[in-house]
Amino acid sequence: MEENPAVTLLTPSVIHRLCRQLDIRPTKQLGQNFVTEPSAIRKIVREAGIKAGDQVLEVGPGLGSLTLGLLEAGACVTACEIDPRLARFLPATILSHASGAAGQMYLIQKDALKLLPADLVGLKSIAPDAEKTVSEREDLSREFSPEVLVSNLPYNVAVPVLLHLFAAFPSLKRALVMVQKEVALRLCATPGSKVYGVPSVKIAWYGKARMGSEISRRVFYPQPNVDSALVEITRETKTPVRRVFEGRQSNLAPGTAPAGEPTEEERQAVFKLIDQAFASRRKMLRAGLKSWAQPLAAAPLLQACGIDPTARAENLSVEHFTALARLRGALLSGFENSQPDPSEQNASGEGAPQDCENLPVGGETSTGKSPLKARASAHGKINLLLAAGEAEDGYHRLSIVFQAVSLKETVEITLQPEGFDLEVSFSAPPGAVGYDSSRDQQAMSGLDPQNNLAIRAFVLVSAHCGYEGGAQIKINKQVPVAAGMAGGSADGAAALLAANQVLQAGLSLGELAELGASLGADVPFGLYGGTSFADRRGDRITPLPPAKPLHLVVAVSPETLPTPKVFQQFDQSGVASTALPTIADITALLEALYSGNLDALAKLIRNDLQAPALALLPQLEATIETAKEQEAIPFITGSGPSVICLVDSAEKAEELAARLAQLEQVAYTLPLTFSASDIELARKQWLA
Ligand code: C5P
Repeated sequence: MEENPAVTLLTPSVIHRLCRQLDIRPTKQLGQNFVTEPSAIRKIVREAGIKAGDQVLEVGPGLGSLTLGLLEAGACVTACEIDPRLARFLPATILSHASGAAGQMYLIQKDALKLLPADLVGLKSIAPDAEKTVSEREDLSREFSPEVLVSNLPYNVAVPVLLHLFAAFPSLKRALVMVQKEVALRLCATPGSKVYGVPSVKIAWYGKARMGSEISRRVFYPQPNVDSALVEITRETKTPVRRVFEGRQSNLAPGTAPAGEPTEEERQAVFKLIDQAFASRRKMLRAGLKSWAQPLAAAPLLQACGIDPTARAENLSVEHFTALARLRGALLSGFENSQPDPSEQNASGEGAPQDCENLPVGGETSTGKSPLKARASAHGKINLLLAAGEAEDGYHRLSIVFQAVSLKETVEITLQPEGFDLEVSFSAPPGAVGYDSSRDQQAMSGLDPQNNLAIRAFVLVSAHCGYEGGAQIKINKQVPVAAGMAGGSADGAAALLAANQVLQAGLSLGELAELGASLGADVPFGLYGGTSFADRRGDRITPLPPAKPLHLVVAVSPETLPTPKVFQQFDQSGVASTALPTIADITALLEALYSGNLDALAKLIRNDLQAPALALLPQLEATIETAKEQEAIPFITGSGPSVICLVDSAEKAEELAARLAQLEQVAYTLPLTFSASDIELARKQWLA
């Protein structure tokens, strides 16, 4: 280890003499205040923890007081000075006070706000022999990656310089800078503090800021009329994006976050949001972020990120801002993907699940003039996310991303004076392989018709509007029965819609969803369809922009699995306390969904009921294995036992449907696509 070079620090009298001699008057405009006390210099260098050989960047060396302190500690210093006179003069001071260290000292005359790594490539030291010969010059030139920033920052540009350097120099691991005390306090403030503001959040994007010592104003020339303090900033290896997305509380495999470091665009998007939020820091966020959120509405975005829309900017951490910006991006890309594209609309099968029609059969009923007959349909679903938490009153808290598929239940209701007649028929969707309705007929025969959700739905709407007559209810089923695809719930949803029509009950979708929730947790989703988020019992629906119409195959098991039994198994397995997904989990899933990235999606699909369903029907493992061999993405949907296999084309779906249908543990297979809901529903929820 080389000895640290002999260095004499500048003293107050030397600094005053130098200033006089050079006719240098520190300028207010450049925020120049020179530190005159060697003890203060050594304190800064000590707090910066500078060791011999450290690659230090110094902004605003001025007369060189701190530069000499850094050289004394053995650092290799690159100084960036904006003032040409000071820059011209500095080498002489260094040579006369630390001649042995001149080879360790590099200088660039530039505005630090414009300094870029390329400026430091090939920079030569200030040692007199650095210019000797061409070959030596080449030896002495270097590619410099500063690791530490140590600086008495010009006070008027301290924050922009810090932010610029952390953005421009990824090599910068930490900084120990002297700034105005108020600025130091701001940089170190945490959410909720009065001084928490733009600098606090933006610096937190890069790392952690910590208060260092206060520095007396007496050590400066000229003496400023503000107090100063040191701040240490340590770059965090995990960016907020990583902190938010890798720190997802889910029980998914690690490394399933949206890939890699945030892009510059992403940082800019988050910083823009921070600026907007603090531009009206007194306002509630739902108002303050109104224009930022455009074309989305601010309140649902905030809510979806777990942020109270009445909170203020000062309550949000950089992670909150990051999640907000990400979610907005994910949702907007969903809306973009769902711009009217007739071919996609067709590929995704049916339109809105709440297809509802009055059949052209007018007539008199006990409710007055109304059609006698109405028909509506609702789609079956898969769960791309089904996370279960604690149970209360017999129901588990759930977080769900529902996706409707191109299978529908159709309910036709014809009013009759009294009594109920129920007629159920089954029909295979196009492309079904090995379909035989006996599996579903048998599954239905085990159910009590009095509990049929379509009848119960009709009764609920009747009660609402005072209808006392009966009805003939015809259900045409495409969704496999008791298979985890919400076929029964779709019957309930379709019946609510048809009853609302035929009885002219005038209930809104929200009111129907409320009635639906009392029938079963999945019924509200049946009303909305498409891609939706659901929480509480799975009955509170937030429609999302429609996903790309991906292809899938459903392998229907000959067996059935009653939902309560699977939840029971889930409770017994002792994993009921798994954390519900965070907004980051959901955002990551939406990003994969809207970009149509199957590989990413594969890692993000989560179903807490998969393990219990497999424990009850272990033979499903073989279906999953076969699907994996065929390069599909298999998972169990809902409480099972249907195995869903995502594939990347209609052809693959067809091939896989044929292959899986041959398996002993598979009754029949259905090649399907995602079904898009009426995008207007999602727009209503999300758009401003
Ligand atoms: O609401 P639904 O009738 O569809 O639910 C069937 C059963 O599934 C419930 O009785 C309950 O055992 C279970 N379940 C649950 N938690 C939920 C939804 C359903 O435990 N959030």
